[in-house]
Amino acid sequence: MNEKLEKAFCVQINKELYSAYLYLAMQAYFKEINLDGFANWMYVQVQEELAHAMGMYNYVFERGGKVELMSIEKPECSFNSPLNVFEEVLKHEKYVTSLINDLAFVAEEVRDRAAMSLLDWYIKEQVEEEANVSNVLGNLKLAQNDPRALLLLDRELATRTFVAPVIG
Ligand code: FEO
Repeated sequence: MNEKLEKAFCVQINKELYSAYLYLAMQAYFKEINLDGFANWMYVQVQEELAHAMGMYNYVFERGGKVELMSIEKPECSFNSPLNVFEEVLKHEKYVTSLINDLAFVAEEVRDRAAMSLLDWYIKEQVEEEANVSNVLGNLKLAQNDPRALLLLDRELATRTFVAPVIG
């Protein structure tokens, strides 16, 4: 595997692990304020991010490369409302989308078609991720600060389950 591309994958593995860590901090916030359905949604998100990281980790090895792990940054831990959390999630997912696009450009630059094909999966996944988050954010905007609407949404988010993605 091209060295520049291998390094770019390692950086992205770190960003995916950071995403898991950030969502774990958000899960802790929801647990603190007793919104267990929101906490469940966030925990599924944590597992998805770990799966995204492992998908790249395994891929680098599959291609005969090696993975250098880096420090994971401390995530933001203070939030002031569920709406504020989901605004941050959407902002973060848009940032991740831009990182995946940059990584795909590196794969393109070094003419690695196999890596480009793997990254197509991640590009599609980001579309889904942003849509899911926008949906919850839209519901939160509708709910405003009505506790009954928030509790109904909490019940709905309690039903989300993690399904291990088939990456690639
Ligand atoms: Fe791994 Fe939510 O992007």
